[in-house]
Amino acid sequence: MDKIISLCKRRGFVYPGSEIYGGFANSYTYGPYGAELKKNIKDLWWKIFVQSRRDMVGIDGGIMLHPRTWVASGHVEGFNDAMVDCKNCKARHRADHLIEGALNIEAEGLNEADLTKLIEENDVKCPKCGKKDFTAARYFNLMFTTQLSKTGDEDSTVYLRPETAQAIFLTYKNIVDSMRVKLPFGVAQIGKAFRNEITPGNFVFRLLEFEQMEIEYFIREEQWKGVFDDWLKSMHEWCELIGLHSEKCHEYEHPKEKLSHYSRRTVDIVYDFPFGRSELYGLAYRTDFDLRQHAEHSGKTLNYQDPITNERFVPHVVEPTFGVERSLLAILCDAYTEEILPDGDTRIVMKFAHHMAPVKIAVMPLMKKDGLDMIAEKIFDDLIIDYAVEYDDGGSIGKRYRRQDEIGTPYCVTVDYETKDDQAVTVRDRDSMEQVRVKIEELGEWLGQRL
Ligand code: GAP
Repeated sequence: MDKIISLCKRRGFVYPGSEIYGGFANSYTYGPYGAELKKNIKDLWWKIFVQSRRDMVGIDGGIMLHPRTWVASGHVEGFNDAMVDCKNCKARHRADHLIEGALNIEAEGLNEADLTKLIEENDVKCPKCGKKDFTAARYFNLMFTTQLSKTGDEDSTVYLRPETAQAIFLTYKNIVDSMRVKLPFGVAQIGKAFRNEITPGNFVFRLLEFEQMEIEYFIREEQWKGVFDDWLKSMHEWCELIGLHSEKCHEYEHPKEKLSHYSRRTVDIVYDFPFGRSELYGLAYRTDFDLRQHAEHSGKTLNYQDPITNERFVPHVVEPTFGVERSLLAILCDAYTEEILPDGDTRIVMKFAHHMAPVKIAVMPLMKKDGLDMIAEKIFDDLIIDYAVEYDDGGSIGKRYRRQDEIGTPYCVTVDYETKDDQAVTVRDRDSMEQVRVKIEELGEWLGQRL
């Protein structure tokens, strides 16, 4: 992870947040290439799961929803983690993770007394300072709150959404009334979610603010098993599409007793990150829990009426959910490659799938003079119409290739002195490092076939 984190900072993928103020724990800024990579992930997801499907529509809901949303959804009551503080070094830990790390047993969902007892009886040490002096475990809610400007005596507390899903449930009736959708159909959304997590610091794996790409797929109850299996398959296909090695992606079936309060079945797609196998995405059968809860709490009918039989019922829901930053992290980890070159040097290359790469082509004049730069600028201007292209004219050509390898640019196009004679350029392939001459007039088509 250290090598990947260092490359991310050095090459402009991910910077530590608020660094000039000494940093702000667990916050990050996505640099120019990280922002492009995130955008590629979100654009592809929207293309695949919304625009290419006749059974899907997309929305863009609010980060702040009516506060009663979170009472109905069960988050006010049950969206909690237990924490303990080290009295010596003041480090805060998630109690279940502390126990799992020290004792290699599952501790998620245990009550405060049991967590405290396990820590005390097994002499669990603080991973930061090594002392065994913790506060008792206590649960706290993971939702961030903020205050609206006061109106009268009303409670002005609002929550920042901890999942995008609820905006979809609140909009279900509007969509049924306005979009002529027929079961089964899905509603998708991409947006920020916020959780006041105690994080173990695995880079962008567990964040306080992150983006989710979520789908609530509305079905008849009896369809759930087939729909669930179909979505699991689609999620694996998605992992392949973004370039993850399939042997690093696995399934984890949540045991019945550990399911979230809304789920009757949950399977995670877990990925072999450098720090261990951990959750990448989730697939849950949420039943009709959310729509029923919102119907009860809002007093509104949230039925579906079958257009042929006129039968009315509350649809059930299968929910595939994808984290943007975890996608980014898995893509970065999967792409990171070190190769020993014949001269003994190590080459670091990010082997992104071409459609994920933040920069597709780098255009390089061998020298910034003798008209080579003018030819390169013309090629750049032609290519930027269709691709993310970078103009790179600083330093030796070898250094420029290395830099583009670390950014993961699939093709480097070099304009040299021969170009003036043969109207051709050298195109270098990122992965094989092979170089071929391509006529400038054929360059667009040549690259188009490969990208
Ligand atoms: N609506 C269901 C839901 O929110 P979740 O498993 O809690 O389920 C969904 O979250 C996905 O969001 C996860 O699979 C993960 O990719 C991402 N995610 C969750 N918490 C996160 C965090 N603190 N930081 C980054 N990504 C997170």
